[in-house]
Amino acid sequence: MKIDVITLFPDFFTSPLASGLLGKALEKNIATVNLVNPRDFTLDKHHRVDDEPYGGGVGMLLKPEPIFAAVASLSCLPKREIILLTPQGSPLNQTILQDLATNYQQLVLICGHYEGVDERIRYLADREISLGDFVLTCGEIPALALMNGVIRLLPGTVGKVESLKAESFEDGLLDYPQYTRPPIFQEWEVPEILRSGNHQKIEEWRRCEQIKRTQQRRPDLWEKWLNSQQKSD
Ligand SMILES: C[S@@+](CC[C@H](N)C(=O)[O-])C[C@H]1O[C@@H](n2cnc3c(N)ncnc32)[C@H](O)[C@@H]1O
Repeated sequence: MKIDVITLFPDFFTSPLASGLLGKALEKNIATVNLVNPRDFTLDKHHRVDDEPYGGGVGMLLKPEPIFAAVASLSCLPKREIILLTPQGSPLNQTILQDLATNYQQLVLICGHYEGVDERIRYLADREISLGDFVLTCGEIPALALMNGVIRLLPGTVGKVESLKAESFEDGLLDYPQYTRPPIFQEWEVPEILRSGNHQKIEEWRRCEQIKRTQQRRPDLWEKWLNSQQKSD
């Protein structure tokens, strides 16, 4: 997977892309990340990437020319998706991450800044994605979250494939509670069943906990899950 990030702040990515599983995946060439600064594509002597909005208003907008030029400079693989990070896009979720990890060879992530981007930049994008219903100062954080979620799903990033399947959202439910040693910590004890060695009972307990948790914490997910079960019956 090739990921191109159009960003005014390439330094932002240095540490997150070098750390943990993401860092290892990049070392192993499971994915490559190419950081492209639109400022390098400006033609004026001040290298301006932003300007005032027509019609007035607060803040500055990213100009279209440097972003279009930055995208035009990229090599293009057959299955490529250009994504604009914006609070007005589809909320990011596990299904979108799976689609991106499975069906594309190249992702181009456009990070906005300031008050946002010139509306015409939207025409570059195949889709618009939001990290959630809140506004951040920049698109770099959502881009990083998206990259992390996609690279995590690529074969070879996570050692055991089963651990990908056992996570929240994978089958529409939240994950079950997990414990490690010690068996008793302060006044909290690890449930007896998890120490019983009875794998069938453990599986049953985990499924029950997944259902309980999802019902209590995410009635929206629970509703969806119930509907999907009824359809598959
Ligand atoms: C201050 S925001 C601009 C918000 C814009 N004026 C609006 O209300 O839709 C600046 C940039 O941060 C990024 N951004 C902020 N919040 C985001 C979110 N929830 N999801 C994705 N990108 C976001 C986008 O790239 C956006 O262009």
